[in-house]
Amino acid sequence: MAPVFKTKMTEMLGIEHPIMQGGMHYLSYAKLAAAVSNAGGCGILTAVTQPTPEDLRKEIRLTRTLTDKPFGVNLSFLPAATPPDYDAYIKVILEENIKIVETAGNNPGKYIEKLKAGGAIVIHKCVTVRHAKTAVKYGADMISMDGFECAGHPGMDDVGGLVLFPIAAREFAKMGVPWIASGGIGNGDQVAACLAMGAEGVNCGTRFMVTQEAPMHDNIKQRLVEADHTQTTLILRTLKNTERTFKNAEALKAAEAERQSPGDINVVRKFIAGSKYKVSFHETGNTEDSVWSCGQVIGLIDDIPTCNDLVERMMNDAKSAVVDRMKTIMVHSSL
Ligand SMILES: Cc1cc2nc3c(=O)[nH]c(=O)nc-3n(C[C@H](O)[C@H](O)[C@H](O)COP(=O)(O)O)c2cc1C
Repeated sequence: MAPVFKTKMTEMLGIEHPIMQGGMHYLSYAKLAAAVSNAGGCGILTAVTQPTPEDLRKEIRLTRTLTDKPFGVNLSFLPAATPPDYDAYIKVILEENIKIVETAGNNPGKYIEKLKAGGAIVIHKCVTVRHAKTAVKYGADMISMDGFECAGHPGMDDVGGLVLFPIAAREFAKMGVPWIASGGIGNGDQVAACLAMGAEGVNCGTRFMVTQEAPMHDNIKQRLVEADHTQTTLILRTLKNTERTFKNAEALKAAEAERQSPGDINVVRKFIAGSKYKVSFHETGNTEDSVWSCGQVIGLIDDIPTCNDLVERMMNDAKSAVVDRMKTIMVHSSL
């Protein structure tokens, strides 16, 4: 599909459409990232989904056999009992000549500096403007502003995109920093609204989870199609590491354990282990027995399209929101 929008995001990343697929642990493998990039967006691999840096190297090379379009790698710095060897992952990212890196999480400063020194474009994803400003100080080229609706880690400020994005627009315009809107986005009307608010594009996680190419059991995709926007919940708030997850039996158990022992990671650890949802995603398709991220945008998801059909539809609908809706309600003489 021919490009509909040209923005700083499409120009900087060398992509056709201003849409990125955020890194998703245990989902952002070569197949999904390549499908998004082939659709004209920016696909992203998650570095630490790969057990070792050498496995990441293999996944990057596999992605290159599936697409000749730009794609990136996500590096998330989240609290962990035994943190991954981030420097070793960065070494591989740079050696493999990856030009787009999505960073997220705590204290990314020294890693951003390293990635920049190695020639990567760094898009730092965060949930507050103050964190964004710190990332920019360390050299981040673009900010992915994640509203409270998002899957994953929405933070502690609880500000939804409709307020957060205009604040981001105002603050980043002063700094001359491009930004993209993230969290809760799943259709073309929202893309048009985000561009109208000053975003250079959008980042989507949950919407790309429910696509043909997402490497996730069909039962879970189908369950997300059936779910409405109220079926997410927040856990780990008392640990100041809020996570928005699908509201299933296991997440409710985790929430109850946390309620009984606030702030105690030991009582929730057994519920939130990534290894549990890896099995649900890739093997059993059990929708209830593990805790995994998903966003409120499930209320807008009614089908399981290919990434190509999804990106095409979102771009066409974004265009239609501008041309068939906004232009037609404007008083003719003001045009
Ligand atoms: C299953 C799942 C796993 C995720 N894992 C990560 C991750 O490892 N690192 C990261 O930065 N973001 C992660 N995210 C967040 C997404 O990259 C993206 O920022 C978020 O989904 C945007 O909100 P949305 O889902 O409403 O589109 C994950 C999201 C989902 C749904």
